[in-house]
Amino acid sequence: MTTEKITGTKVIDAEGAYITPGGIDAHVHLDQDDFPNGDTFETGTRSAIAGGTTSIIAFALQPKGQHDLEKAVDNYFERTECGAYCDYGFHLILSDPTPEVLKQLPRMVERGLTSLKVFTTYPMYKINDSELLDVLLETRKLKITMMIHAENYDVIKYLNEKLEQKKLTDPYYHAVSRPEEAEDEASYRVITLSKFVDTPILIVHMSCEASINHVENAQKKLLPVYAETCPQYLFLTSDYLKAGCEHHVHPEDPFEGAKYICSPPLRADTTELDGVWRKIQNGTVTIFSSDHAPSIYEHPNGKKRGLINGLPHYQHIPNGLSGVETRVPLLFCYGVETGRITPQRFVELCSTNPAKIYGLSETKGSIGVGMDADITIWYPKGKMLPFELTNEMLHHQIDHTAFAGMTFTNWPKYTVVRGELVWDRDNGGIVGKLGFGKFLKRGASALAGPRKELNPILA
Ligand code: URP
Ligand code: ZN
Ligand code: ZN
Repeated sequence: MTTEKITGTKVIDAEGAYITPGGIDAHVHLDQDDFPNGDTFETGTRSAIAGGTTSIIAFALQPKGQHDLEKAVDNYFERTECGAYCDYGFHLILSDPTPEVLKQLPRMVERGLTSLKVFTTYPMYKINDSELLDVLLETRKLKITMMIHAENYDVIKYLNEKLEQKKLTDPYYHAVSRPEEAEDEASYRVITLSKFVDTPILIVHMSCEASINHVENAQKKLLPVYAETCPQYLFLTSDYLKAGCEHHVHPEDPFEGAKYICSPPLRADTTELDGVWRKIQNGTVTIFSSDHAPSIYEHPNGKKRGLINGLPHYQHIPNGLSGVETRVPLLFCYGVETGRITPQRFVELCSTNPAKIYGLSETKGSIGVGMDADITIWYPKGKMLPFELTNEMLHHQIDHTAFAGMTFTNWPKYTVVRGELVWDRDNGGIVGKLGFGKFLKRGASALAGPRKELNPILA
């Protein structure tokens, strides 16, 4: 029920339901060159507010060979000209960190891009260990939040070749080609390098207990090492990649497993998922993001790119799942409402910690005087009719969701961005205006920067 009490003030009666800070989804791929038919800033942020997210951080990509960062980033700012429904920022993806490129990082910080992502894998983006050391030194100096995609490139390449020789190219073999050991080794390695350089890191989209154990061990030694995980690693197993899986919306389609390809991949069984849940519960995992990286299924440049002359080739299938709308409701229903985590832990993972890590905590991530009024209001427990998710209920422009068929016992009833009601589930759905979302010029992370004297060899 909403009532007009004081002129110009809308009063929302939460009827005893939880009111939580708006979600901050700090890992969202929108309109990226490598996702040519994913979501735009319009459709991705529309989907975000419908799922209780009030800020997103997307990526501006430096392609290999592009040594003018200003130009690379301008190109991504232009993609926001369509407008956004919620606030947004950019991380920089650095794929070619030459000395000339690293000199331009202070300018990126000035523009509010105070975080960057590097990859230890993917031929297009991979940097080697010496390049990583160079980047770590710069992020230390400039207090940039360092996000690392950690999987061992050579192991994956080796296994790809083996699987190709054996003609094992169905979507399922994507998971076989990227075993836990590849993530485990790379996670340990990047933690070791960050310790050497004495600078914080955040390992993104961590998928398994083995690699998160390294983060936990580092944290026990009080090292500033942080972990991100995502819904797919709590709810889906690699069985979903197999033809005819019982969870598929179209089990008759032998290529349906392509919809579940992401990197790191879904892991083998529910014991693995429980392992990641434990790391959420015990506080090791710092933030919970969607890694919204969508591609349309029925599109020659989307997931179907991997179907060549009727034969599946997992190496050609775009990686990534969509999930910006389902992230917050999934953790609320399966974490808070089942009693697996406290509401406080939920808020930390979805809002407060991303704000701290990414230099937004002065205005975002909690509810308080002087903060932006970014708010999600839920249904009072038991007051929403549980439903099974279908893709048609979502607001992205993608033709599938990996979470179809899951039961939701709650969902954001209202989403408020900077005091404006933008989502009213029972009265019109999206009620916000395209263009209301503002660029977030972010400050330094509360967690970045040096801890002790720099090793003299590195000075
Ligand atoms: O499969 C994934 N996660 N695709 C998106 C790119 C990335 O590595 O985050
Ligand atoms: Zn990644
Ligand atoms: Zn990603």
